[in-house]
Amino acid sequence: MIVVVTGASSGIGRAAALALAARGDTVVLAGRSRTSLDRIATECREAGGDAVVAPTDVSDREQVEVLVDLAVARCGRVDVLLHCAAVMAYGEFTQVPPEVFERVLRVDIDGTVNVARSALRRFTAQGEGHLILVGSVVGKMAPPFMSSYVMSKWAIHGLARALQAEVRALPGVDVSLLAPGSIDTPVYERAGNYIGRIGQPPPPVSDVDKVTQAILSLTTRPRRELSVGLANPLMVFGFRHLPAVYDALVVTLMKRLGLSRTPTEPTPGNVFEPH
Ligand SMILES: NC(=O)c1ccc[n+]([C@@H]2O[C@H](COP(=O)([O-])OP(=O)(O)OC[C@H]3O[C@@H](n4cnc5c(N)ncnc54)[C@H](OP(=O)(O)O)[C@@H]3O)[C@@H](O)[C@H]2O)c1
Repeated sequence: MIVVVTGASSGIGRAAALALAARGDTVVLAGRSRTSLDRIATECREAGGDAVVAPTDVSDREQVEVLVDLAVARCGRVDVLLHCAAVMAYGEFTQVPPEVFERVLRVDIDGTVNVARSALRRFTAQGEGHLILVGSVVGKMAPPFMSSYVMSKWAIHGLARALQAEVRALPGVDVSLLAPGSIDTPVYERAGNYIGRIGQPPPPVSDVDKVTQAILSLTTRPRRELSVGLANPLMVFGFRHLPAVYDALVVTLMKRLGLSRTPTEPTPGNVFEPH
């Protein structure tokens, strides 16, 4: 398969790119940092697949169009576009600088819109293709102190469901939504931070391999939504059906379990620039 992976330089995107390459796929690796992508490309080739490096800022519509055009020029087509790229910022809503908040929305929401549009135009032209959007369990619930990220994930879940209805008119074209819970990746440490303590994945934490297996299975069998994380259904149930209990507990739980004890100065983290 020819698979374009955004956010391929770290965490879930990196692990998925390596697993796809090991399966013999050709991966087109997108992210902002060419240095990181070059390193992952070497690892993908060593794993057994071919790799194309395509530095791209997904918040820029033209760059995303160039990414898909490059993939088609180099590989002839795109079978799957796996969209993992995202950034995050911790802090109470009023403490996060407006430009940081807005940039999270630009990368996470506009980036997803740009990727979805370019992918679906390409899939329509070639008569087939599969867009996999990485949402999150927080696209179905609303923990505090990460409101720009939560907003973005709700937007991604809404977009995915709307697109799934639209592509029913296009046999051969699919849209899947992946909704991981806590996964052990660098996103927590690299996030923008205006809350004073470095973030951490709240338990129960899944290994990134679990998400990789889910992605590999999605590439051969599209699904409306695939959740990864044993506690996801319980948390979403609590949020939806016991809102008063959820609200009473979530701030304390987030402070105890979602933030480490390691202090940090206010920082935009990797929101504007790659790590
Ligand atoms: N880790 C979790 O617990 C978890 C849970 C649920 C959902 N998710 C979702 O899973 C996806 C991957 O997260 P992760 O944990 O693997 O995060 P990560 O390790 O921080 O990786 C994020 C990736 O996005 C890229 N990126 C950031 N801004 C970009 C931009 N403007 N344009 C292009 N690429 C950009 C980064 O590369 P550069 O910095 O080089 O651009 C990096 O490759 C995200 O959608 C995240 O929301 C993660």
